[in-house]
Amino acid sequence: MRKIIIDTDTATDDAIAIIMALRCKDLDVVAITTVAGNVDIDLATTNALYTCELCGYKIPVYKGASGPLKRKLETSKFFHGKDGLGDTGPHKPKGKIRKTYAVDKIISLLKEYPNELEIIAIGPLTNIAKVFKKDPEAFRLIKSLYVMGGIGEGKGNITEFAEFNFWVDPDAADIVLNSGIDVKVIAWDTTQLYGYLNEKNFDDLEKINTPLSRFSIDIQQRGLEYYKVKYNEHKIDLADPLAMAVMIDERDTIYKKSKVSIILNGEKRGRDSYKFIDSGKVQLATKVSRSNFLNILKSSLKK
Ligand code: RIB
Ligand code: CA
Repeated sequence: MRKIIIDTDTATDDAIAIIMALRCKDLDVVAITTVAGNVDIDLATTNALYTCELCGYKIPVYKGASGPLKRKLETSKFFHGKDGLGDTGPHKPKGKIRKTYAVDKIISLLKEYPNELEIIAIGPLTNIAKVFKKDPEAFRLIKSLYVMGGIGEGKGNITEFAEFNFWVDPDAADIVLNSGIDVKVIAWDTTQLYGYLNEKNFDDLEKINTPLSRFSIDIQQRGLEYYKVKYNEHKIDLADPLAMAVMIDERDTIYKKSKVSIILNGEKRGRDSYKFIDSGKVQLATKVSRSNFLNILKSSLKK
């Protein structure tokens, strides 16, 4: 089994991605680490713990950075709801959050499982950047790093120039993407092309009719209202679940090797720009299997 860490700012789409990982027989989620982003750190952490309990799993959850490296935290409660789970709460987990700081736990796990541990980061990259700054040797023991973030070759979702995760903490994105290790990036452009749910997809989820499928539909209602008002569409883009589907099965994913620059300040803060070169360490996903995403999503909600 593949040992993985999920680093997350647990809100609606993160929760669905966590369910997909826990329901995947090939993945051993050794820890979930939380980071402030969609919601504040305490809420991200209790949401992560709650989601694991909903799946019937006791996964160690560790609290991480309460804000970006250099900036003030700006959340996306306008989209995910005040509780981060579509205002379907309150969601009070029964279990306790672990005491170790997430960044220190990631470092110790990397030393415990050198070149065996895979990380998927589905929130701002603050924790991952802190691991690199605190212990670059340990950081280089990451077997593979998948990142949901950036606009790729498209437009942003929080501003026209930037995607939320990179916008919240552009300094962390810059550090991680230029750390020198191979990073696979699933950005907002591929999310919009391959990771959306339309009315028919929601009808299919309704038919599953299990506690997890009902939960995953309920928590997205706030986001659907937002899309209805903003785009007049019954649709939603599931960034983190698409990234998780790529991590689970990337056979049909096409990547382009690149060198990335991140704009750190000003109107274009958080913008990622790509120079496609064979020696590039950042592999930008340019094509993702939509059927793989939908199949993994549906099968993870069935039990
Ligand atoms: O821009 C999409 C990303 O921002 C996703 O990770 C979503 O959860 C939010 O954090
Ligand atoms: Ca997220």
